[in-house]
Order: sequence, then C-alpha cells, then structure tokens
Amino acid sequence: MNKIIFRIVETEAELQQCFAVRHSVFVEEQRIFFETDQDEFDKNAIHIAAIDTNTGKVVSTVRCHEQESGIWYGARLAVAKEFRTHPSLIGVKLCKIAEKTVADRGAKRFLAYIQPKNVRFFERLNWQKVDQPVTHFGSIHQLMEASLFGMKKKTEYYTTRKVQTTNVQG
Ligand SMILES: CC(C)(COP(=O)(O)OP(=O)(O)OC[C@H]1O[C@@H](n2cnc3c(N)ncnc32)[C@H](O)[C@@H]1OP(=O)(O)O)[C@@H](O)C(=O)NCCC(=O)NCCS
Repeated sequence: MNKIIFRIVETEAELQQCFAVRHSVFVEEQRIFFETDQDEFDKNAIHIAAIDTNTGKVVSTVRCHEQESGIWYGARLAVAKEFRTHPSLIGVKLCKIAEKTVADRGAKRFLAYIQPKNVRFFERLNWQKVDQPVTHFGSIHQLMEASLFGMKKKTEYYTTRKVQTTNVQG
C-alpha cells in the first residue's frame, strides 16, 4: 500500500502540483471550470497536500482561506481519481487537517460550498448544513459548516456562530 503523508505546502513546486491535481478534477473531470479553477483566493490561502511517498508526488489537496476576520472557507478538495477511497482515507484526513489548521489560527467559523453528492461525506465529518442550497459556479451547492467544537473552548464556539455568509466565493 502506498504510504501517504500530509503537509502544508511550502514550496512553489508543490503548489503547482496541487494546482495540477485540481485541474484534473475540476476542469477535466467535473468541468466546473473552463480553463482554470485558480482564483484570487489562492494567493493568500493555506494549501494542504497529500503526497504519495512512493513517487513523491502530490495526489490530493485542499485549500483554506480567511475571508474575513475569523471566518475561514475551505475549497477545492480534490483527491486524484486513482487515490479515492484509498485505505489512508485521504479525503477525510485532508478535511481534518484543514479543520485543525484553521482552528489553530483562531477560526470562529469554517465554511465550504459542497456539491450535493458530497454532503453525506461532510455530515459524517460532523459538518452541518447552513441555510438552503445555492447556485455556486453555475451549479447547486450546499453551504456547510465544520464543527470546530472540541478544537476550541465551548464558550468561544457558541458566541461566534452568527455572521454574514452571503456573497462569498469558495
Ligand atoms: C469527495 C472526495 C474528496 C472523497 O475523498 P476520498 O479520499 O475518496 O474519501 P475517503 O477515502 O477519505 O472516504 C472516507 C469514507 O467516505 C466515503 N465517501 C467517499 N466519498 C463519499 C461521498 N461523496 N459521499 C459519501 N461518502 C463518501 C468512503 O466510501 C469512505 O467510507 P468508509 O469509511 O465507510 O469506507 C473525493 O471523492 C473527490 O476528490 N472527489 C472529486 C472532487 C470533489 O467532488 N470534491 C469535493 C467538492 S465539494
């Protein structure tokens, strides 16, 4: 079994590999974006990579960015096709690392626009639906929120839930 390691991206070369995985998933496979899925949020985002130690290559990625003070968004979770449902649970681990990454940086909320077919995946990670589904990049998405409970003090969690969530790109 390929051993997979996870880390926050620190080099341009690794970032370009993350972009390549995202391109293969969101442009070529899902056709959500026409030429590129990269956007203005990539510059200041934290990118997390899953790396196959056999090849040294990035095989999956996700990004997190702070949209406004304390309000973070996750986006572009992409596991290369041949690594999906891998015994290492790559998608699950990337989400958990993303949650810890933003909690460590003081996130009050961690949100993401989720494709309907993946809502169950996130519910199993204790994410909850926020409001009704919306159109996002031309197709229906469900805004969901991570339970950062357990990663921070209970009082902090419950006093910070009510914020504006509209007009945000993920
Ligand atoms: C969705 C995605 C990230 C899941 O990643 P993954 O690495 O295959 O998932 P894992 O191996 O960590 O799966 C863990 C569990 O979730 C289940 N699972 C995987 N995808 C699921 C889905 N879409 N819905 C419900 N359960 C799912 C797995 O079967 C596994 O269940 P088990 O533990 O009972 O065996 C991956 O399929 C992917 O990259 N898809 C294409 C891009 C995409 O849709 N991104 C999300 C945009 S919102």
